[in-house]
Amino acid sequence: MKPDTLEARDARSVIHGLTNLKRHLELGPTVIERGHGVWVVDNHGREYIEAMSGLWCIALGYGEQRLAAVAARQMEQLAYYPLTSHKSHPSAIELAEKLLAIAPAPMSRVWFANSGSEANDCAVRLAWYYWNAMGKPGKRKLLSHHLAYHGNTIATASLSGVNYTHEGFNLPLPGFLHVACPHYYRGARPGESETAFAQRLLADIEARIVAEGADTIAAFFTEPIIAAGGVIVPPAGYFDGLQKLLRKYDILLACDEVVTGFARTGNMFGATTMNIVPDMLVCAKALSSAYIPISALMINERVFQAIARQSDELGVFGLTMTYCGHPVATAVAREAIRIYEDEDFPARVRQLEAPFLGGLRKLESHPLVGEVRGRGLLAGVELVRDKTTREPFARPQKIGAICAGIAEKHGLILRAIGDTLALCPPLVISETEIAELLKRLRTALDETAATLSRA
Ligand SMILES: Cc1ncc(COP(=O)(O)O)c(C=O)c1O
Repeated sequence: MKPDTLEARDARSVIHGLTNLKRHLELGPTVIERGHGVWVVDNHGREYIEAMSGLWCIALGYGEQRLAAVAARQMEQLAYYPLTSHKSHPSAIELAEKLLAIAPAPMSRVWFANSGSEANDCAVRLAWYYWNAMGKPGKRKLLSHHLAYHGNTIATASLSGVNYTHEGFNLPLPGFLHVACPHYYRGARPGESETAFAQRLLADIEARIVAEGADTIAAFFTEPIIAAGGVIVPPAGYFDGLQKLLRKYDILLACDEVVTGFARTGNMFGATTMNIVPDMLVCAKALSSAYIPISALMINERVFQAIARQSDELGVFGLTMTYCGHPVATAVAREAIRIYEDEDFPARVRQLEAPFLGGLRKLESHPLVGEVRGRGLLAGVELVRDKTTREPFARPQKIGAICAGIAEKHGLILRAIGDTLALCPPLVISETEIAELLKRLRTALDETAATLSRA
């Protein structure tokens, strides 16, 4: 790296997440300067297909003029106003009404925050507040899946079931419990059917609830599809059974739609795709198509009535952050939803599912590919050492990262989650661009296989 380049200046000044900070000092970053549609361009003029929508978020692609125009208009009209102390503004009201109207289950009120982490963090706080209001302060523990990702505040890093949010940070906090990930390909016993696998996991969850004591458990958090853990689609029957258990033991269900919200899986919400009826629902990312930070937490009437009563008793609802329901962010999000509806993005995704997932499934014949899984325009391609035994690669090889690096050289940005390649392209991707994405991915897989055979 020459000292005056953007790469070198970055290495000298910026800290990056999900990055080996020491190696970054030598490698530096890929510097992206601009984007259009599903394409981004780096500071050397190289073009890439952004097959991860950045971090699963820029659903409407780059250069959406309607969002830019709304943001500029709102900044001129009312750049900021809080939602605290009985104040409000039209953008927040309109967005809340719209979210309640399109929610996949009956919801009563909307709380705004600035990121998925914050909204999930607030959902934890509301679960605790709710049970205090119900006269059951002992219900404090939170359940979630191993491999789930729910964010990176102290509470949501604890809620997450991935090691990297815990290791070195003295987390998880006590009371954040993780149950087995419903990952059939990795977790099933030899010869076990999907139904038997789901039933076994559900029996384990019930045993855990009983062992911990249902009167100590506040809520269960789940993603409809476990995205950052490796795009894991829970087997049929799993969520039906889980919801029965949660009702039986009076445990709240929080659905984390941060990745799956807004047409990603072919319905406006992943809860519809996976038959989930939650008490609380969190969305972010595609809510504004990532044009501006915003998240939302919807709660049902049962939760709202209890917390309203509790705030009356305490005199005030003590949750607040300066930028909750920021007028510019809420206006942009309202416009993004208008676009999803005007252009019927759920239908568009359902149409593109066949070329996208079907095209990826053709890669299952590739010697490196163990399983392709996903829904809509969300997919994981798991690389394995042995296709018949499903034996993974030994970790030092880091095949996923090697393959993602090769893909990037061929103008395709995806994300390696262990040895699963995650793909989550902007929803505006065309069939021609899907074909190009698949072509580049196959080239990357072939070159990865060749690298391995030389090693
Ligand atoms: C399912 C899920 N929940 C929550 C989050 C956290 O959202 P944010 O990064 O906006 O805080 C993420 C981020 O990737 C996510 O994938």
